[in-house]
Amino acid sequence: MKIFIENTYDQMSRKVCDNIISYIKNKPKSLICLAGGDTPLKTFEYLIQANLNDEVDFSQTTFVSLDEWVGLGKETKGSCIYTLYKNLYEKLNIDLEKQVHFFDGLSKDLKNECKKINHLIEKFDGLDISLLGIGLNGHLGFNEPNVDENIDCGIIELDNTTKTVGQKYFDTNLDLKYGITIGLKHLLNSKRLILIANGEKKAEIVEKTLYGEISNNVPSSLARKKPNFFIYLDRLASKNIINKNNI
Ligand code: GLP
Repeated sequence: MKIFIENTYDQMSRKVCDNIISYIKNKPKSLICLAGGDTPLKTFEYLIQANLNDEVDFSQTTFVSLDEWVGLGKETKGSCIYTLYKNLYEKLNIDLEKQVHFFDGLSKDLKNECKKINHLIEKFDGLDISLLGIGLNGHLGFNEPNVDENIDCGIIELDNTTKTVGQKYFDTNLDLKYGITIGLKHLLNSKRLILIANGEKKAEIVEKTLYGEISNNVPSSLARKKPNFFIYLDRLASKNIINKNNI
């Protein structure tokens, strides 16, 4: 495990971008799993800039979106896929049809959506990079507290915290009940697992993630079992851990 603490969200995001670029330079044909949500937005800006400046070539890279709210698709502003398309995919020099994969939250056959993404991940022999935000309850994707670690992809009933916090993405209040997500089995087996968190509101869950009991009650804590786990924090999110272990 490696913990990186940067002064600002902006500096943190630049470091995360550099980490991803170095991996892609080494292995252009990677499969990258990306979270929607607010935390990675600045990293996306840096990735777009790096792509424009030819610092990184994504032409051989495959992207898979981490999760989606069941019942929502690309048309809904705030859905995971809307966020990823508008803030990243559409602005990269890539073939959207061929290189971008995601769960269709509007599908009538969600089990088949799981199969589709599972098949993709297996074809690549696992995820290369997973870039994940941390929910206030420690969820990774929609792997909510007490989730089964052995799920590859699944449809998960949302925790109350997620239902409430999730409203921040939408213009009107939505009835959020289930999420469809890449499961912990794949995420924890990523060749590089990157968690990111910024802002004071994440300080408590960051502390639990890094220093609490390793338990599926706090899914993000399970990342500590993995040697290739990187966590990037800004100063505010690291507030509760700054005096621990000489950080
Ligand atoms: C959301 C999403 C995740 C995201 C996480 C953190 O509910 N399911 O994709 O990584 O929670 O979100 P944020 O970055 O907005 O804090």
